[in-house]
Amino acid sequence: MLRDGSLSGKTIIVTGGGTGLGKSMTKYFLELGAQVTICSRRLAVLEKTAKELEEQTGGQVLTVECDVRKPEQIDAVIQATVQRFGAVHCLVNNSAGNFISPTERLSYKAIDTVVDIVLRGTYYFTLAIGKYWIENQIKGTILNISTTYAWTGSGWVVPSAMAKAGVLTMTKSLAYEWGKYGIRLNAIAPGPFPTKGAWERLFPTELAEKFAFENRIPLNRTGEHQELANLAAYLISDFSGYMTREVITFDGGEVLNGGQFNFLHQVTPEMWDVLEAQIKSANRASKQEGKP
Ligand code: HXC
Ligand code: NAP
Repeated sequence: MLRDGSLSGKTIIVTGGGTGLGKSMTKYFLELGAQVTICSRRLAVLEKTAKELEEQTGGQVLTVECDVRKPEQIDAVIQATVQRFGAVHCLVNNSAGNFISPTERLSYKAIDTVVDIVLRGTYYFTLAIGKYWIENQIKGTILNISTTYAWTGSGWVVPSAMAKAGVLTMTKSLAYEWGKYGIRLNAIAPGPFPTKGAWERLFPTELAEKFAFENRIPLNRTGEHQELANLAAYLISDFSGYMTREVITFDGGEVLNGGQFNFLHQVTPEMWDVLEAQIKSANRASKQEGKP
């Protein structure tokens, strides 16, 4: 969408950049001339992605293992990026954890796990990068990846909805407070964009076979990764230099149907047993990915 070189000279950190939408955004940022650091918990996954994207785009990717719930690991990502590329100009808070479940079936730990990755992880990274930018007088840009149900609310993804709503409020509040430093914060609220991570945990096979959720989307299709990458590149680029605190819903009109997962009231307790087992098995498999 943007012309060649639109992001040249920019260094961008993408959390969760090894997979899914983070990987697709990273690819486009590299194509537009940026240098990118990708970070998340699974180093082997990050390294595989970095190699693939460097070969495809000719760009440079730094990988750093980081659990966004751990501030010292976040500081290490920023330090390693400055050491390798000289500075950081943009942060994309894209990491998330999520799965569908009736809320009354969740343990306290299950709720904490999702909220800690999504909300705590995002505000820790935002705080760390903001301190670095203010101290070094860098007019940086943050892009937060939220969801449509952060606005509407939605059953069956309550921990994620609470956390993503907090991220939106932080986006708007800090856009005001840090505006004087030239720091911009915006967010995207995507509708469904097929990724392995989201589909295994939110639309497992058993469910996808029973409910054609595409029918909920006025444009009658899911989103394409390049479409999201185009918007993300614009929001972190200088072309959007006068835009801050904005939250862009990007969902083919799906939000007009209300809370994204409210249709799950049709799922029976027996079916929840099956879905929970499927999701937990996918969680275990993803933890193993990249391990010898
Ligand atoms: C009930 C569950 C559960 C399930 C996990 N738990 N899955 N409870 N139903 N289906 C519980 C566990 O039993 C445990 O609690 C607690 O959650 C933590 O689980 P762990 O596996 O120990 O946690 P961890 O290894 O940190 O993994 C985090 C995770 C996992 C969130 C559970 O799914 C993950 O790593 N996700 C990362 C990727 C991801 O989620 N991508 C999708 C993003 S999509 P107890 O008490 O039993 O120990 C998105 C947008 C949605 O956000 C919009 C789509 C259109
Ligand atoms: P995904 O591929 O599963 O991406 C999630 C990423 O977060 C993974 O790369 C994961 O890497 C990382 N992550 C999870 N826990 C982490 C932690 N504690 N510390 C650091 N990184 C962590 O799913 P996706 O669909 O691309 O989602 C990307 C973003 O888009 C998320 O914010 C999601 O909420 C949002 N979103 C997606 C959709 C959709 O339809 N796909 C819709 C709305 C919003 P590791 O496992 O290696 O840590």
